[in-house]
Amino acid sequence: MIQLIRGFKDILPGETGLWQKIEKTAASLFEDFGFCEIRLPILEHTELFSRSIGKDTDIVEKEMYTFADRKGDFITMRPEATASIVRAYIQHRMYAVDPVQKLYTIGPMFRRERPQKGRYRQFYQINAEVIGVDSPLVDAQLIFMLAELFKRLSVSDVSVHLNSLGCPKCRPDFTRALQRFLSKVTTQLCADCQKRKEKNPLRVLDCKVLACREAVADAPAMIDHLCGECEAHFTTVKNSLNNLSVQFEIDRRLVRGLDYYTRTTFEIQTGLLGAQSAVAGGGRYDGLIESLGGPAQPAIGFAIGLDRLAEIVAVNNKDAAGGIDLFIAALGEKAKTAALEWSCALSLCGIKTETDFSNKGLKGLMKRADRHGAGWVLIAGDKELDEGAAVLRDMSTKEQLSVKIEGIVENLKSKLTAS
Ligand code: HAM
Repeated sequence: MIQLIRGFKDILPGETGLWQKIEKTAASLFEDFGFCEIRLPILEHTELFSRSIGKDTDIVEKEMYTFADRKGDFITMRPEATASIVRAYIQHRMYAVDPVQKLYTIGPMFRRERPQKGRYRQFYQINAEVIGVDSPLVDAQLIFMLAELFKRLSVSDVSVHLNSLGCPKCRPDFTRALQRFLSKVTTQLCADCQKRKEKNPLRVLDCKVLACREAVADAPAMIDHLCGECEAHFTTVKNSLNNLSVQFEIDRRLVRGLDYYTRTTFEIQTGLLGAQSAVAGGGRYDGLIESLGGPAQPAIGFAIGLDRLAEIVAVNNKDAAGGIDLFIAALGEKAKTAALEWSCALSLCGIKTETDFSNKGLKGLMKRADRHGAGWVLIAGDKELDEGAAVLRDMSTKEQLSVKIEGIVENLKSKLTAS
């Protein structure tokens, strides 16, 4: 049998209800905060990602699905959405209409990482980006909105981790201080970090290898090297989050895995997913738009890992899986014909209705009703049809009442919507 590719997964009917709920909750919340949806292609020119995420990052060096198309152009299956959003902002001159754009997008991303729980090669992200605002107040607003989404989904076992990565003015001094530190612990670093130390020292702080983590435990932190402006920006973000009652912790080690970040960076972390603790991550990328050939506009955004979020929402909402409203147990040919008509009419009224057109007996039909998690079952045989009344059973209390066949759709509609 042909199986799916390692690291890829099917999202099965039992799970899609939860995914839809999360997507709808996010979209409606983001739209209330003034965001508009943007839909982007999955394939982009490879250069878009190497120039934005950074060619010395794990994503670009090792994880991208890149191939030459038939004409020999290098194209990549997007590993993230921020670069594509920025590309679209520049390409469609969205800034000419209004430099401030608040955009969100939901869709699959691809990274060839080692698969494990919470880590897939095709995974889904919910992204939100604010382009064109440099005020630290918007950083707080965005983090507030993200925290609110977790609240609305009844997820409580998460914490906001916050850091600042400075700007091109203060970062070089910090990088030199970090390099001086790293040269003292070189022998303790993994082979990758030996190279990173020269090319991209910040990445060493992000390494997951235990020996490297121990070696950098006392490494200098960017927040101790911020310039006056970055310091003031960070202070306002922290004060605004306090004013908005968003709890957070300062995480001096948080560097993120992409090179475009400046100033505010953050992650939502959880203990519920084993090694994969980040459910969402984001930050400012004030230099990215200009570096990709657009106007000098600041920006900030985040991406939520939808697969990971669905896993923790499922843990927190064990009883959330919803069943149907009504199952029509039709016994006999005449009853099945009537059930077809009734079920179509009730479905059109927004009442989730199922029926069964096979020749099962009552026992078999009740089993199907249970499998559907039906709240109510309407039992109608040819005999009931002749007598002019069917039986409606409340599946939670097991109470039964009689419902007139004449005007049955209206009768059921008022009964079921009232309960
Ligand atoms: P990221 O931290 O690379 O940031 O990814 C964001 C989230 O996507 C992670 O916190 C995680 O939940 C999820 N994720 C990443 N890789 C995987 C994977 N292999 N399997 C499952 N989930 C995964 C970005 O992508 C940035 N573009 C975020 C951003 C937007 N920054 C500014 N704007």
